[in-house]
Amino acid sequence: MSTDHAPLLDGSPKMRAILTIIENIADTDAMVLIRGESGVGKDLVARAIHTQSARRHGPFVKVNCAAIPSELLESELFGHEKGAFTGAHRRKPGQFEYAQGGTIYLDEIAELPPALQAKLLHVLQDFRFARVGGHGLIEVDARVIAATNRDLEHALARGEFREDLYYRLNVVELHIPPLRERREEIPRLASWFLGRFNDQYGRQKQISPETLARLTEHAWSGNVRELENIVRRMVVLADGEQAFEALVARGQIGHDAAPRPAAMVTESLREIARRGAREAERQALAEVLERVRWNRAEASRILKVSYKTLLHKIAECELVSPSRRVVQDFNPSRTIRHAT
Ligand SMILES: Nc1ncnc2c1ncn2[C@@H]1O[C@H](COP(=O)(O)OP(=O)(O)OP(=O)(O)O)[C@@H](O)[C@H]1O
Ligand SMILES: [Mg+2]
Repeated sequence: MSTDHAPLLDGSPKMRAILTIIENIADTDAMVLIRGESGVGKDLVARAIHTQSARRHGPFVKVNCAAIPSELLESELFGHEKGAFTGAHRRKPGQFEYAQGGTIYLDEIAELPPALQAKLLHVLQDFRFARVGGHGLIEVDARVIAATNRDLEHALARGEFREDLYYRLNVVELHIPPLRERREEIPRLASWFLGRFNDQYGRQKQISPETLARLTEHAWSGNVRELENIVRRMVVLADGEQAFEALVARGQIGHDAAPRPAAMVTESLREIARRGAREAERQALAEVLERVRWNRAEASRILKVSYKTLLHKIAECELVSPSRRVVQDFNPSRTIRHAT
């Protein structure tokens, strides 16, 4: 099993072709547009381009255009001067300035509002811009990588995305194929995630050949992110493999409920790991409780924690049993109306 925890971007001919393009373009400053369904690894590819370029010692700044309210996005990207708008108490540099000497990664670019599409187009022409409420031009030296999981042609046809911006961004287009089109990667990815989560959670889980076969056949509409989450659950749950089989049998995998990645990476790696672990714990807890119909004694046995710890975890994760949910939803006025 692999103990190397670097992402695996060379597991199939399709990904190796992408790696070759990355190697060829990394050292140019060509703009790159990365496309592909959610969870295929666009962020990893963007980072790989940065780390293989001469800018690798400079910053890598990610901005998720969908996660920031549109009225704040301009200031987020380009900064603002003191007094530019209500609440702008002091001058604030934008993410383009922070990316000086490095790479700026504009994720979910299709969500950029029209006015900002126009401003970005101008910025990409000479890499100079003014902060919101300012006049002086700031020059920035940054490589731009954009990504989207939307059908951009459709957005172009509907006039939702500017054609001139599309052509400017699309100097190199990388299309990351969905996981179902590169299934040969699944065993290696699964064993790599298994190694990583075993290390992280102090477990020694194995995946049986039967389960591996099921994993390889699965449709993975949530792509690598979904596979990652499934393997995490297998590791966290005491009977993780059976839980996976049960999910497959109930047709419940394929609808990834993973949280969207944070808008911008402003957390430390330790915080991100803690959040991931908390979410995995919450999912595992909810799943087991549902399976044993909220028999808490049974759940504490399966999860190998004391009854008291289990109750504590339930409260911490704010999980509510179905019987209490009924009580909470109970609306007496509705009942009275029915009765009369
Ligand atoms: N080849 C890979 N090797 C290891 N991990 C991977 C690989 N591809 C994707 N992942 C993992 O899968 C998850 C999703 O990847 P990533 O965030 O790069 O996808 P994305 O295409 O940017 O998704 P979205 O469109 O939702 O932003 C991440 O946790 C990432 O680490
Ligand atoms: Mg992404």
